[in-house]
Amino acid sequence: MAAVSRFYITTPIYYINAEPHLGHAYTTMVADAVARAHRLLGDDVFFLTGTDEHGQKVERAAQKAGLSPEAFADHIARKFHDLLPALNISNDDFIRTTEPRHHAAAQELWRQVRDRGFIYKDKYEGWYCTVDEIFVPETQLVAGRCGICGNPVERIAEESYFFRLSRFEQPLLDHYRAHPDFVTPAGRRNEVLTFLEGGLEDLSISRTSFTWGIPVPDDPAHVMYVWFDALTNYMTAAGYGVSQPAAAARFARYWPADVHLIGKEIVRQHAIYWPAFLLAAGLPLPRQIVSHGWWLMEGAKMSKSKGNVVRPHEYVDRFGLDAVRYFVFREMVFGQDASFGDEAILTRYNSDLANDLGNLVSRTTTMAHRYCDGVVPSADRELLARPPERELSSAVGALVVKVKAAVASFQSSTALRDIWEVIGATNRYIVTREPWQLAKSPDRRAELDAALYAAADALRVIAELIRPFMPATGERTLRMLGVEPEAASWTSLRPGTLEPGTTLGELAALFPRIEHTVEELRAMAADTNDVSPAPGSQGASTSVSSAAASAGAAGSATTGTVAATTAAADRISIDDFMKVELRVARVLSAEPVPKSSKLLKLQVDTGADQRTIVAGIAESYEPAALVGRTIVVVTNLKPAKLMGVESNGMVLAASPEGGKALLLSFDVAPVPGTRVR
Ligand code: MSP
Repeated sequence: MAAVSRFYITTPIYYINAEPHLGHAYTTMVADAVARAHRLLGDDVFFLTGTDEHGQKVERAAQKAGLSPEAFADHIARKFHDLLPALNISNDDFIRTTEPRHHAAAQELWRQVRDRGFIYKDKYEGWYCTVDEIFVPETQLVAGRCGICGNPVERIAEESYFFRLSRFEQPLLDHYRAHPDFVTPAGRRNEVLTFLEGGLEDLSISRTSFTWGIPVPDDPAHVMYVWFDALTNYMTAAGYGVSQPAAAARFARYWPADVHLIGKEIVRQHAIYWPAFLLAAGLPLPRQIVSHGWWLMEGAKMSKSKGNVVRPHEYVDRFGLDAVRYFVFREMVFGQDASFGDEAILTRYNSDLANDLGNLVSRTTTMAHRYCDGVVPSADRELLARPPERELSSAVGALVVKVKAAVASFQSSTALRDIWEVIGATNRYIVTREPWQLAKSPDRRAELDAALYAAADALRVIAELIRPFMPATGERTLRMLGVEPEAASWTSLRPGTLEPGTTLGELAALFPRIEHTVEELRAMAADTNDVSPAPGSQGASTSVSSAAASAGAAGSATTGTVAATTAAADRISIDDFMKVELRVARVLSAEPVPKSSKLLKLQVDTGADQRTIVAGIAESYEPAALVGRTIVVVTNLKPAKLMGVESNGMVLAASPEGGKALLLSFDVAPVPGTRVR
């Protein structure tokens, strides 16, 4: 990533004729991740987003809603504004083109361009697409409709100011040659070059047939063409057009912008019109225009008119914000289109987040708590120099370099793929070292410490690297490791720097596994699916009789009905209850116990270890159906032999009178190791 001390990034400003959807949210989230990464690298970042509020389209939408354009604009602009905290967006400013500061800036740019001789008055006659707010040359009509969005075009014939765009063909070509990265990805740059080489015509930049816009200086019968107005926002927010010294200094510091991040359909306006306006005004050009592809629903671009929009809120409610952020960053290869789908999110959620990341965080922090008294252990250098530790540490070191490079080129899906490879490697490392076995032999203490240090140290770097993409998850993980998230932590990020002796923070469950199907989730979102257990079932142990007997308080997970029948004198204290360690576990494998019709032998992951539990649930469950399922187990029972198999714990299930045992389960599964109380 370029070592600049200041970094200015913008999103497009969004039209307010419709409410925000995932497409808008995506651009803003990508800009957010890049802005966050630059802050972590120590840059002075300015991140701008906002709303594009003028134009015929908005004027008409307001009329349709029976509101003044001002009232309509306030109403919808607020929705875009309020979406930002819901998506944890770290923008430094939010610009609305209806603000006085922007009127002043757009008029200043107009004067500057006019005074340098690049604006003249004439008559415009031709086609106009109100959806895209763009003049459509006859040659670009497709079956009489707009070639970009396919909507009907209107014929307009009115007096108009024109911008001498034709004068900028050669200067733009020169700029493109001198700055090969001006527009990325390369495919978009080539499209722009082809368009430029086809020749440029002067551009109509004012309208007289409606009034919802910024008046043209000295000729208020005209309002500015909405793109002339809108593109200027990038300079307004940096302080352009204001004569006070502070604003001028701000403009000198932040202009030109480093990156205008946009969707692929507005490349021409950003890559041709905007630099031409700036060249005409004698102002510096932005360093880079970066465009991404579209989120598609059933092959079509999401749009209000097609009725196929995804509302980000719904998905955030269902999966959590960081899961949605992870999905969009991971799933869309930058520059290409991607399909949005519930099934794909659910799969990524359970495999990448619950399984890979959730498991790593849970087992690393739980074991450090359990075996190292809640502090990061110190590790023997020689033990850390063994091949598995060296390999892990060098993979982590290489990852830091890779992620920085991927972020610099907007390749978030590559960055996350690389991070997940190292998450996998760290999980495998833990399995290789088996700290739960090491913990059984006091003479292997040093090896245990080294294994837990190596895992925690890798996890710390992973947590730092996911911060731009999943800020809350990254920071929560760091805090669990006892590391206070710092502003510019990437400047010194490398493996081996986690301080031994650091006191770990409180454990928190990340990404509990979701056991529901997509259909169930939809039904639950619609509040129609009540899947509570049969009333009256007793929350108690299964028929693992000897283990249950030794638990004593195993029946304490009772329903109100049962509690009500317990004599007051027989009630237990909370301390008694807390003696029973109930924890979430995941079934890794299940098989029948030979010669028993009732017992199954389960291998479970308790977050801290893997162990065998024998459970009397063979009459209720097929072994194969249990694999991957999240259950509740008593983890501090003395071992007991059942039909010759040693059981290290007990599975909790409801045992209705005369019925089959039903395992306790969750709406949304917590990570293994989570305490149940
Ligand atoms: N107001 C103009 C931009 C002016 S910038 C000076 C505009 N607004 S918009 O509301 O239509 O937003 C367009 C932007 O939203 C796209 O460039 C893109 O960043 C994002 N997206 C809208 N739909 C999208 C998808 N289906 N997929 C991905 N992003 C999309 O154009």
